[in-house]
Amino acid sequence: MSEAVIRCRGGFLGIFLFSFFCSCESFFRGAETFERELKVELNPGLRLPPPGGDLLHVRAVGNNDTLHYLFCSHGAPALLLVHTNSSSSDVQVNWPLFLARNTSGSLKVTPENSIQYSTAVIFSRLLEYDDVNNTADPNFDFFPPYELQNFTWSRVTQSSPIAVICGTDATFTNGSICFKLSVFGSEGRGQSWPHLLHSANSSQLEVWLDGLPPRATHSRFLLELQAVGGDYPLNRVEVYQSIDDEFTPSIFKVTQWISAQNKSSDILGFVQWKPVAYRRSNPTLEDATPCRHSDPQPQSSEEMATSSGLIQAFYSDLEPFGLNVSFGLAGDPFYNSTNFLSWTVLVGVGFPPVDSFSPLVITIMAVGLGAPLILLLLGGLWVCIRKRAVDSTTNYEPIN
Ligand SMILES: *[C@@H]1O[C@H](CO)[C@@H](O)[C@H](O)[C@H]1NC(C)=O
Ligand SMILES: *[C@@H]1O[C@H](CO)[C@@H](O)[C@H](O)[C@H]1NC(C)=O
Ligand SMILES: *[C@@H]1O[C@H](CO)[C@@H](O)[C@H](O)[C@H]1NC(C)=O
Ligand SMILES: *[C@@H]1O[C@H](CO)[C@@H](O)[C@H](O)[C@H]1NC(C)=O
Ligand SMILES: *[C@@H]1O[C@H](CO)[C@@H](O)[C@H](O)[C@H]1NC(C)=O
Ligand SMILES: *[C@@H]1O[C@H](CO)[C@@H](O)[C@H](O)[C@H]1NC(C)=O
Ligand SMILES: *[C@@H]1O[C@H](CO)[C@@H](O)[C@H](O)[C@H]1NC(C)=O
Ligand SMILES: *[C@@H]1O[C@H](CO)[C@@H](O)[C@H](O)[C@H]1NC(C)=O
Ligand SMILES: *[C@@H]1O[C@H](CO)[C@@H](O)[C@H](O)[C@H]1NC(C)=O
Ligand SMILES: *[C@@H]1O[C@H](CO)[C@@H](O)[C@H](O)[C@H]1NC(C)=O
Repeated sequence: MSEAVIRCRGGFLGIFLFSFFCSCESFFRGAETFERELKVELNPGLRLPPPGGDLLHVRAVGNNDTLHYLFCSHGAPALLLVHTNSSSSDVQVNWPLFLARNTSGSLKVTPENSIQYSTAVIFSRLLEYDDVNNTADPNFDFFPPYELQNFTWSRVTQSSPIAVICGTDATFTNGSICFKLSVFGSEGRGQSWPHLLHSANSSQLEVWLDGLPPRATHSRFLLELQAVGGDYPLNRVEVYQSIDDEFTPSIFKVTQWISAQNKSSDILGFVQWKPVAYRRSNPTLEDATPCRHSDPQPQSSEEMATSSGLIQAFYSDLEPFGLNVSFGLAGDPFYNSTNFLSWTVLVGVGFPPVDSFSPLVITIMAVGLGAPLILLLLGGLWVCIRKRAVDSTTNYEPIN
């Protein structure tokens, strides 16, 4: 009797769990409906392209707030995000002053009191070292760094809201380093690996080194990033365990470089990535190569201001932090194996996106757990019915 009760309960638990997983899936799929309207303009206020590079402005307008994305190749490539509490805030550029690159305030977001938060990330240097002993220990044998502020950058090629710039240095003829900015108006995933999850409050920057002539056969690369975050700099890196799914196979971690008032308060802005780069433009799993990061270090504010025209123009005083991301671990193939390397980051305001179980994983879990539970349920029901039948027959037995 008690066994039958347990079995019956097991059956109902099965139904409960099964419907729980089903509702979870619809919850994960349908929860986010927040959207922004995107408007793109190149070199706001100018008819002809300015000398020295382009300034792309993407306005992402919400109900009563706006996220301004400014992407600039005057100097080192830089992306500035400004969040305002008005849906009609605007960007104003004083071009003669902006191009002189010696004063702050030549790029303004108006009205100035609508600004809630701003952050910027600058790709300052590309470093290359000769890993003769294949230890991937980037402490020896650095070649002179490539200063990205001294590169010649192509005009922005733009198919809104996606923009690409490529840069070359006088020291090499073939190959380039390219940056692709994608701004999003709604939640979704990047099209290529690592398929980062994004929200309407973030943008994605993909950087790739295509055909750069390595200066040694054992060359490996590092990228130096610098960031500012208004009153709250990006000064802390968190690494957390994530789930392995079909979007980024075999990568279990997410790294985020964040700005927050203090450890317990909300995150205001972030640069987020998965610690993986790819050695081909159409990668397979074998082309993945892990990456590592150094701790954020305070940087010179003057150097940062001179390296990027956009930072110089917008910020008056800076508290920059910088870190290096190195590509490849000991034993991994060197850059010369494919002469290609790509890496992707998400830059945004507010809380960074968090991966949840993908629909595929949920379906597998639902089938894997649900099917035995349905069998259990049917078995339970069958035992209940049998027991009832047996009970009712045994009830009559004493009469015999
Ligand atoms: C923001 O927009 C929503 C809907 O458009 C409105 O209900 C709300 O009052 C607005 N909030 C502010 C602070 O203006
Ligand atoms: C900025 O540079 C321009 C010309 O390059 C010069 O006329 C101006 O005086 C400079 N301003 C400052 C504040 O240095
Ligand atoms: C926007 O925020 C500022 C303070 O940062 C406040 O003075 C202003 O009233 C706010 N505007 C709206 C429309 O909420
Ligand atoms: C490589 O290994 C050799 C022999 O172990 C050592 O002498 C040399 O210093 C190493 N070079 C680097 C850059 O680590
Ligand atoms: C890069 O440009 C800066 C400023 O124009 C200059 O001071 C520096 O020497 C240049 N670096 C290289 C490696 O050319
Ligand atoms: C540059 O590319 C051309 C054609 O793709 C090739 O013939 C040449 O050898 C390359 N030069 C170097 C230095 O790799
Ligand atoms: C994006 O920002 C808006 C406005 O600050 C906020 O209401 C919304 O919840 C944010 N969405 C996400 C996914 O963080
Ligand atoms: C890259 O360099 C290594 C080390 O010298 C060499 O063994 C290998 O053949 C090179 N790979 C290619 C594709 O050139
Ligand atoms: C952290 O910041 C919040 C405001 O975001 C503040 O209320 C709290 O007191 C701060 N905590 C510490 C330890 O400073
Ligand atoms: C990146 O690495 C190079 C070479 O070790 C070093 O000179 C530079 O200071 C590092 N940058 C940061 C931000 O740690």
